[in-house]
Amino acid sequence: MEKENKIMLPENEAERQLQYIELVKERISALSESAGRPLTACVVTFGCQMNARDSEKLSGILEKVGYILTDSEEADFVIYNTCTVRDNANQRVYGRLGALNHLKKQNPHMKIALCGCMMQETEVIEKIKKSYSFVDLIFGTHNLFKFAELLYAMFENERMVIDIWKDTDKIVENLPVERKYKFKSGINIMFGCNNFCSYCIVPYVRGRERSRQPKEIIHEIDELVKDGVVEVMLLGQNVNSYGKNLEEPITFAELLREVEKIEGLKRIRFMTSHPKDLSDELIQVMKESKKICRHLHLPLQSGSNRILKAMNRRYTREQYLELVQKIKREIPDIAITTDIIVGFPGETLEDVEQTIDMVKQVEYDNAFTFIYSKRTGTPAASMENQVSQEVVKEGFDKLLKIVQDTAREQVKKLQGQVKDALVEEVNEHDSSLLTGRLSNNTIVHFPGEASLIGKIVPVKLLECKGFYYLGEMTDFKVEEESYI
Ligand code: SAH
Ligand code: SF4
Ligand code: F3S
Repeated sequence: MEKENKIMLPENEAERQLQYIELVKERISALSESAGRPLTACVVTFGCQMNARDSEKLSGILEKVGYILTDSEEADFVIYNTCTVRDNANQRVYGRLGALNHLKKQNPHMKIALCGCMMQETEVIEKIKKSYSFVDLIFGTHNLFKFAELLYAMFENERMVIDIWKDTDKIVENLPVERKYKFKSGINIMFGCNNFCSYCIVPYVRGRERSRQPKEIIHEIDELVKDGVVEVMLLGQNVNSYGKNLEEPITFAELLREVEKIEGLKRIRFMTSHPKDLSDELIQVMKESKKICRHLHLPLQSGSNRILKAMNRRYTREQYLELVQKIKREIPDIAITTDIIVGFPGETLEDVEQTIDMVKQVEYDNAFTFIYSKRTGTPAASMENQVSQEVVKEGFDKLLKIVQDTAREQVKKLQGQVKDALVEEVNEHDSSLLTGRLSNNTIVHFPGEASLIGKIVPVKLLECKGFYYLGEMTDFKVEEESYI
């Protein structure tokens, strides 16, 4: 970027980006004047909570430069924050890009950007350059912090701007963020992953594990609480290894103890825990906490030792079961959820039976079941014994049924009890109802006013409807103990 030298830019990265925000703002304001209306921007998120949080960072900058945020893709700027964990995520992006091209032809102001995990793959970039040349800006996961600078470059260039970094050790703090919810927020505590499960693309597209400084995390949560947040979700691909590589190492459990002390914060969640790194210290902190929610997402992936080994998960079914038993013994009201993959190379129906047996033993409150998707560049992709679609389908259907039956049984257990629910929104289908979330992550719908959104209220769980409840607000508690 030649112009960069002519503008005096600060060395501190966040300040540098703030300067770019000012430059882009002038541009947007001029464009908006010539269009005779404000310009709109739409951020579409694919993938996990980490991507959702990144989208809030993108939205923060878009708002600062003067765009009006909208959910409609009929906007002047549309950005897809992509995911590549399974191939169907990629296919959805390609499908929707076709439709965007059509919209762009009708709107001369329209700009299109792509970012996120998919963009870290060389073959994706090649395909976009070749078949989707109407895209204006492409960047990856490691340089999202320079979004303002990239927007500037996009407006300066007629041609597609592409900026992808292979990896980074940089963490840029203090950039603007626009939250989706006023009362709850995700917080990145670490980035990347070092585990290299043999099926998974995430370590390749998100880079090596980097933990944020605890004081930066606490500061961010402090500020969020001052701004109305009552629930935080601490985010990382493997939160249990948080802090190990910091200059002054700290454990995840110690971080949780610090977060617990923040006054005004009511609920703490976290995602995701790798079973191999879940410590006794963490179980203890969860047990003693009045703020950490009674929910643990503990991905199993497979119940067969042979497959677990090939997946490089580094635990056995016996170790996993022992861990779950310990957790349930210490925290009896905890809900445990999981992720399972069916169809990993070499998996037989007998292996799936082993997984089903684990589902029955653990009694999961919910499980996300995925069909194995071959990801180029991962060790599993070059394994020879890929499973036929028929075998995968048979195993998957069988597993899904057991998972659903087990989850229904688990959810039903709270019938008739009173539990605190954080009111999240007005029910999508019936505006006389509110939708709230219990500490254990179960959803309850109950009559109430929209003014209660963001509040924690006691709700009697009247009728279990499979995976959620219908309830009513109450001002007394049946339970002796109430975990927020
Ligand atoms: N870091 C988290 C998972 C992130 S990806 C963890 O280790 O638990 C979310 C889920 O996607 C994984 O738990 C896994 O079940 C699934 N997944 C990842 N790669 C996959 C692939 N190639 N095919 C199918 N499912 C996959
Ligand atoms: Fe992927 Fe395994 Fe890392 Fe999770 S822990 S992101 S499944 S490599
Ligand atoms: Fe997808 Fe990237 Fe998350 S690949 S699951 S968006 S880390």
